Amino acid sequence: VSTVVETDVLIVGSGPAGASAALALSSYGVPNLVVTRYASLADTPRAHITNQRTMEVLRDLGVEQDVIQQATPQHLMGNTTFCTSLAGEELGRVRSWGNDPLVQAAHELASPTRMCDMPQHLMEPVLVNAAVARGTRLRFQTEYLSHTQDADGVTATVRDRLRGDTYEIRAKYLIGADGGRSKVAEDAGLAMGGQMGVAGSINIVFDADLTKYTAHRPSTLYWVLAPGATVGGIGAGLVRCVRPWTEWLIVWGYDVEAGAPDLTIEYAESVIRKLVGDDEIPVTVKSSSAWTVNEMYAETYASGRVFCAGDAVHRHPPSNGLGSNTSIQDSYNLAWKLKLVLDGTASPALLESYTAERAPVGKQIVTRANQSIGETAPVFEALDGLSPQTPEQLWANIAARKEATEAAEKQRAKLREAIAFKVYEFNAHGVDLNQRYVSDAIVPDGTPDPGFTRDPELYHQPSSRPGARLPHAWITSGSRTLSTLDTVGKGRFTLLTGIGGEGWVRAAKAQETEIATVVIGPGQEYEDPYGDWARLREISDAGALLVRPDGFVAFRHMSAAPDARELLSEALWRILGHA
Ligand code: FDA
Repeated sequence: VSTVVETDVLIVGSGPAGASAALALSSYGVPNLVVTRYASLADTPRAHITNQRTMEVLRDLGVEQDVIQQATPQHLMGNTTFCTSLAGEELGRVRSWGNDPLVQAAHELASPTRMCDMPQHLMEPVLVNAAVARGTRLRFQTEYLSHTQDADGVTATVRDRLRGDTYEIRAKYLIGADGGRSKVAEDAGLAMGGQMGVAGSINIVFDADLTKYTAHRPSTLYWVLAPGATVGGIGAGLVRCVRPWTEWLIVWGYDVEAGAPDLTIEYAESVIRKLVGDDEIPVTVKSSSAWTVNEMYAETYASGRVFCAGDAVHRHPPSNGLGSNTSIQDSYNLAWKLKLVLDGTASPALLESYTAERAPVGKQIVTRANQSIGETAPVFEALDGLSPQTPEQLWANIAARKEATEAAEKQRAKLREAIAFKVYEFNAHGVDLNQRYVSDAIVPDGTPDPGFTRDPELYHQPSSRPGARLPHAWITSGSRTLSTLDTVGKGRFTLLTGIGGEGWVRAAKAQETEIATVVIGPGQEYEDPYGDWARLREISDAGALLVRPDGFVAFRHMSAAPDARELLSEALWRILGHA
């Protein structure tokens, strides 16, 4: 007798996208079930850079501290080093991931959170454990095979890989978080633009105590310009810290036309020797795998009741560290919408805003990550070392920069510039935080788009204009100091106002939809002792911001309004997809 398992939301995949979708949905009380193909979560480090926006999401979902406890902290991430090998010559460094003093200040001003390095094999258990503790049902060794959908739901066929049989799962919605070879996205007919297999890469995970080459210049990434380093891969050879300073992951390229080399222990050890440059250090290879650099993104993330998130809809190299960040943020965008549609608060039309808001972000990060690979070439060019080259030529060019000649001085300047330009990969604060959503779930307030006053990829620019993430400011409540971002989220809308905004508070309380209210001002529940909020909010004391459960401003009014109740009702009606 075949049994049909029922749930509200079926999630395929337990990677960053699937696990965070499960965690958010369970936090909001939405029944959900995760199926995942293998017997365990990720067993290799994979994605690791965790940016401030993701940390804000994890803070709202209550797992920020769990991540901080296990992650490598920001101050150990940031001396991105270019060298001929770890033991070899150093060519220069870039202060990265918020460790440049000016960028560090920008990070502190932008968010209550700090970025960190949280390898995927540590991140997934945090997300999944919390999700399961809050009600997610999880089935390992269960493979999604196909789905059909009708007016009321989706029926997926899955295979139990332990027993070998197939069965059906009936859900109201299906989330395809099944990664870069997504069968769900394919079955749902989500067309992908771009190209798979642009270049070939190999990941080698190994144990080795490299303290003597790294602790004095602590970093997540050490880039190696060695002969062969421009073949395939991600711009150069990479030695990436998994655990300071004893566990590592090397990324090394191969010619995708020729196919991946045989990944024997001997091959892995030869690559490690080349990039570490010290054969005396004992090395234990843990795993090697081949993968390709992809440049693909879907224009549409959904078809009917099927929604895809993460690598299922954007595939790109690890440059800029955007993979798991974007995946988690996709799911966070989707989860509250599903909750409000499932509980009848919102019309299914709200779900259309998922593609409208996240597809442009996916396209942007795929483009950015691939561009960053190309921007490593000038470092080689500065050394006249772009392929074709002989090892002797490259070493001679690297040595030439030490000479007391005009040509060498020019070469030194060119190399410094090329390395410094890599801030677009290693310190792109704007790429992390400057998303501006345009969709039917955002009510424009009629103000013109101010654009960005500085390079939007490098610099974060806060704004309270509808479509932007609520600006962070430290405020107080009695003896407690908290971020404005701590007053929003938790799956509900929040209205922020100040003295004179009583009309907005009454209007919020009168809505059928739950809206938390936050009044900031002297003698109110929340105070703004530093004046930070007043500087950032872009509205008057009596104005109002309506913030969505995901922390994005959905509606803004500059001042008090006699018809606050109608204005808010109308805005909410639109945001919830009823208009
Ligand atoms: P992800 O691929 O993490 O998860 C997909 C999930 O779906 C898995 O749980 C899988 O088992 C499951 N699944 C797939 N098909 C299924 C089916 N038919 N039925 C049931 N379950 C199914 N990024 C980076 O920044 N730095 C890096 O060094 C690396 N290295 C790296 C190595 C390897 C080997 C991989 C595969 C990926 C990376 N990445 C990476 C990319 C990074 O891991 C990726 O961007 C994120 O994990 C994307 O998260 P998702 O949850 O979207 O997919």
